Amino acid sequence: MINTFEQQFRSYSHIAGEIPCNLESGKFITVERISPLKIYSLGFQPAKFIPEIPRWFIQKYADPAFTILDPFCGSGTTLLEAIQQNISAYWLDYHPLSRLICQVKTTVFSPQEIFEATTQIIEKVSTQKFAPSTINFSNKDFWFQQPVQEGLELLREQILLAESSLQPLLWLAFASTVRKTSNMNDGMILAARRSHIEKIPIRSRSDVFQYFQHYVKQSVEAFVEWNPFLKNFKAKIQQLSSQDARQLPELLKVDAIITSPPYINAIDYVWASKFELHWLGLVNSNQERLNLYSKEIGTERIPKQGCKELGKTGYLPLDQLIEEIYYGKKYQATSGQNQLRSRVVYQYFMDMKLHFLQSLQVLKQGGYYCFSVGDVSNICGVEIPVASLLSEIACDLGFNKIFNFNLLLKNRRLNVPRNVNWAGTIKHDTIIVLEKIN
Ligand SMILES: C[S@@+](CC[C@H](N)C(=O)[O-])C[C@H]1O[C@@H](n2cnc3c(N)ncnc32)[C@H](O)[C@@H]1O
Repeated sequence: MINTFEQQFRSYSHIAGEIPCNLESGKFITVERISPLKIYSLGFQPAKFIPEIPRWFIQKYADPAFTILDPFCGSGTTLLEAIQQNISAYWLDYHPLSRLICQVKTTVFSPQEIFEATTQIIEKVSTQKFAPSTINFSNKDFWFQQPVQEGLELLREQILLAESSLQPLLWLAFASTVRKTSNMNDGMILAARRSHIEKIPIRSRSDVFQYFQHYVKQSVEAFVEWNPFLKNFKAKIQQLSSQDARQLPELLKVDAIITSPPYINAIDYVWASKFELHWLGLVNSNQERLNLYSKEIGTERIPKQGCKELGKTGYLPLDQLIEEIYYGKKYQATSGQNQLRSRVVYQYFMDMKLHFLQSLQVLKQGGYYCFSVGDVSNICGVEIPVASLLSEIACDLGFNKIFNFNLLLKNRRLNVPRNVNWAGTIKHDTIIVLEKIN
């Protein structure tokens, strides 16, 4: 007997390679991807979108004089497309690790200089007896063996002495080294103390140095492929001074926004990148790391006060869902979780509303807003059709919906909410194109 998943899967159109510009609106598709350039996989970002989405948008809607913006830039997928198609792009992201990744991917690095700097670093760290102790954060000793801590400290010390123009790439290789040499199992996204953690091998300082060399080599290989694109690129990539998509510069003017906004309650990116944030010195204390949550749209870590109050967005279908979560009509969670999650949903849509208002200000007349978002989110048993709700809010503010399609996600490692039965629910990304009408 064919189960629901298979039935649904068969009804999708399967596309090999690029999403065609003449795709009909409203389609459900899967994409069999051709191997992307290595540069795409550099940098830790648990919710990347596939480059075929911004590529499709640029090919369908943009002309060479276009300027685009990605206000939730993540690992810079949109920027890589802009560079390959020679159009100008602005970008921002509140998360310091994302900003580092985007800076690296938009800079030319000389493989020769990187190798020379790495050789020097390895020579220095290998002969050093004493390792400083400069980095501190909660549970450091649980997640990092003593020789690993020493190895990381020594590498840090030397990267800080390296030529400043080479440092961003070295830091990115260091970030991968931190994740790999921690006591997390491969594939784990969150550093949570769980009983099923597999035994981790005993590691030495030199293991740390070898991993660092490995990740530098990987980055250099990516840049050997990528540098020619950067060198041929005639337009401009510019990071905005704003680090919050709810506050865009007043004077900015763009033809299109292409982005994948955060999901509600999906991946705790601050927690997921805790080790990198501390070891790279992107935050200087636990409190500084926790402060990042106040900048993050979609976070579950919102102040407890205010949660008791039932949030009202003014959009009737959304408010009904928020109320269902609040009163636990589908699922009664323990210790105030219904109220908390109801507030998280309320806050997410209010933040996105603020972001849409700002987007209308920076978009030129007739400009486009293309977004891709995971649909549907399930919060306390209540299904939230995120894409259509976002689209409804945007259209109420001054956009017109002109195109949409749905893309089946395979092997997407999302943090699926506990105690929720997903059976029979097919998860896909919804891509929506809006046009500014006034
Ligand atoms: C789904 S990810 C984007 C992934 C990206 N498209 C890629 O392919 O790598 C969403 C991004 O939104 C960022 N973000 C969350 N809240 C933000 C805010 N208030 N302002 C700017 N960026 C924010 C997160 O740091 C994350 O990088």
